[in-house]
Amino acid sequence: MPRDGEPVVHSFDSVSSTQRAARDLLEGGRARVGDIVVADQQTDGRGRFGRVWTSPPGGLYATFIVPSDRLLALRAGLAAARALEALGAAVRLKWPNDLVVGERKLGGILIEANADVARVGIGINLTTSPLGDATSLLDLGVRADRDTLVRAIHSELMAQESEAGILDSYRARSATLGRSVRVDAGAGRTLDGRAVGIDALGRLLVETRDGVDAVSSGDCLHAPIVG
Ligand code: BTN
Repeated sequence: MPRDGEPVVHSFDSVSSTQRAARDLLEGGRARVGDIVVADQQTDGRGRFGRVWTSPPGGLYATFIVPSDRLLALRAGLAAARALEALGAAVRLKWPNDLVVGERKLGGILIEANADVARVGIGINLTTSPLGDATSLLDLGVRADRDTLVRAIHSELMAQESEAGILDSYRARSATLGRSVRVDAGAGRTLDGRAVGIDALGRLLVETRDGVDAVSSGDCLHAPIVG
């Protein structure tokens, strides 16, 4: 039985995906807002845009069940970045919420939501980085206890904070602002330009040859830094 204020953690050795496990638990009435689903490995881990999230043992794979919120994509990235910073990892956020160190990806976030409840799935490379252009906490010389990190992310995610506070803290950790970007905004819309801002709704503002466009969701690539 969890103590007052402690989250309920649904812990698995192996699941297809903690996102799916969380959905099943919610649908079965066995989980609620505030709960966490965590697994040692995933056999069918999922990333954004239908990508595969390779999930061997030694990584952090967790889904946090939280209230839906219009700034959740930014709030979730910020929560993970703050928890990682507390361990000494100099993490920044590639819009909207990739956790990056330099140009290398340390972790990613997949959010699935309805009007009231969201499942925030977070994957962080702790000891291994399954992809060649990624990194891990161990690569950075940081040793992390998974369960302690999961709880730290949870308390950051559940903390009350004003939208202005979230936006300021997010912008301060942005790896995207000021960069040349290509954003695939879906429905055949691709923007090439410079990331010049993040607005009050968390949208990325991209200055293209035709003016400034606001993108509410999409796949953002940074142009390589030359020199
Ligand atoms: C991305 O960068 O594409 C998002 C990756 C999200 C991976 C996490 S791991 C825990 C949760 N379960 C999943 O299947 N995906 C998310």
